[in-house]
Amino acid sequence: MSPVNTGPAAVIVLAAGAGTRMKSRTPKILHEIGGRSLVGHALHTARSVNPKQLALVVRHERDLVASHLNELDPSALIVDQDDLPGTGRAVEVALEALDSTAPLTGTVVVTYGDVPLLTGDLLSELISVHESEGNAVTVLTAVLDDATGYGRILRDVDGTVAGIREHKDASDAELGIKEVNSGIYAFDAAVLRDSLRHITTDNAQGEKYLTDVLGLARAAGGRVAAVVTSDRWQVEGANDRVQLSALGAEHNRRVVEAWMRAGVTVVDPATTWIDSTVMLEEDVRLLPNTQLHGDTHVARDAVVGPDTTLTDVTVGEGATVIRTHGSGAVLGAGSKVGPFTYLRPGTVLGETGKIGAFYETKNVTIGRGSKLSHLGYAGDAEIGEDTNIGCGNITANYDGEKKHRTVIGSGVRTGSNTVFVAPVEVGDGAYTGAGAVVRQNVPAGALALSLAKQRNAEGWVTANRPGSVSAKLAEAAAHFEDSSETPASTEEGKQP
Ligand code: UD1
Ligand code: MG
Repeated sequence: MSPVNTGPAAVIVLAAGAGTRMKSRTPKILHEIGGRSLVGHALHTARSVNPKQLALVVRHERDLVASHLNELDPSALIVDQDDLPGTGRAVEVALEALDSTAPLTGTVVVTYGDVPLLTGDLLSELISVHESEGNAVTVLTAVLDDATGYGRILRDVDGTVAGIREHKDASDAELGIKEVNSGIYAFDAAVLRDSLRHITTDNAQGEKYLTDVLGLARAAGGRVAAVVTSDRWQVEGANDRVQLSALGAEHNRRVVEAWMRAGVTVVDPATTWIDSTVMLEEDVRLLPNTQLHGDTHVARDAVVGPDTTLTDVTVGEGATVIRTHGSGAVLGAGSKVGPFTYLRPGTVLGETGKIGAFYETKNVTIGRGSKLSHLGYAGDAEIGEDTNIGCGNITANYDGEKKHRTVIGSGVRTGSNTVFVAPVEVGDGAYTGAGAVVRQNVPAGALALSLAKQRNAEGWVTANRPGSVSAKLAEAAAHFEDSSETPASTEEGKQP
């Protein structure tokens, strides 16, 4: 806890709207960009200005939204809006709830749950201008080429902010105004409380407009001002899926750029997607078509990509991860993964270890320096250090009802196509022969073989596939062997 809480008295996040243009069964503010829900971004920004209280106003899909909010930020106050519509009513119910212990004093900030690119820096600037100028209301505005739908900022001839006119209530002259209301404000708590009492629904939409507070505050002798941002993305809301994707792309562009400035090489920013929650160290290299999600952490000098998707994966220093789809894995320093590798949760690869091409792993701990190089499955297993698992090895962990463990020691060498029928244990330094089906424990240092004797049916092809290409070549080979019996010509015959 910081000793002195210097943030505003409260931030109120408005999130009661229906979001019908999304055409979705998922509430709009639960849609995601950059690995966070829209309202998750709003909460993150709100928390970053260190408010004494944080309230969210909900109504549409109330229970779904409330449970999401409880997960994200259990200490935030969830306030239900009643049947009365409008942003003014939304703030009124929030303020009543926040006032219930003791009436708020100082600055109350209002933001929206569907404006995901707003940064804590811009919100802090709004608050500090508001407080240093001693304003009653400070509104965040932007100048747009197309202001359709937005509330317009009305200014006196001297430039003083006089109020806001909603698009639907605006005159033709007012519709020509390009400076718009972002819907994000800093209010003096007492002015807000008094003004909300006087707001009516006497307008084109029959709603209580929060925007009316500006005119009322001015009329009561308060100072009203604006902070104009030149970064329109920070005030842009996601109303439909087209805007959602545009905001998602811009969010990603900003995240990727920030990582490049922090010392990460990103070969192709356009095809590299990084969630806000990902952590990267200096001198990481990300190759094209790489997506990093959730709680992924990539350490110094590691190379990830191309064509790699990692979710909640820790990549150790200097590791390389090529063409891999992974989640819930921990990859040690200097380890190598890929290409074409599927890492599932619980995969832990030791330092300098390897999980190679066409491998699937799940719930497996692989010791330092051990290699699973090609074509196989390792699940519910523990593998020691400096063990080499041959090509095509499988841990047969599932008996149709239960999963069982395979434990393989250190310094083990397994032959190609070994199947470990779990539960089974292989001791340190043991070997297995090619094609072994290991059903019993293998003691340390033993060679496990499960061989059926090979039988060759001589002349089978000539007898059973007469006239075929195989038969002709087989006959030619037999003839060649017959006519090349002197030692000298045998040597020549073996030349490549
Ligand atoms: C509002 C502003 C407008 C501004 C625009 C910016 C008002 C009257 N108008 O218009 O000046 O340019 O935002 O985007 O404030 N909400 C509630 N409860 C409600 C109504 C809305 O919580 O009863 C929430 C919505 O979920 C949304 C936000 O408030 O997050 C804005 O609502 P919306 O209907 O989009 O406002 P606009 O009419 O676009
Ligand atoms: Mg509206």
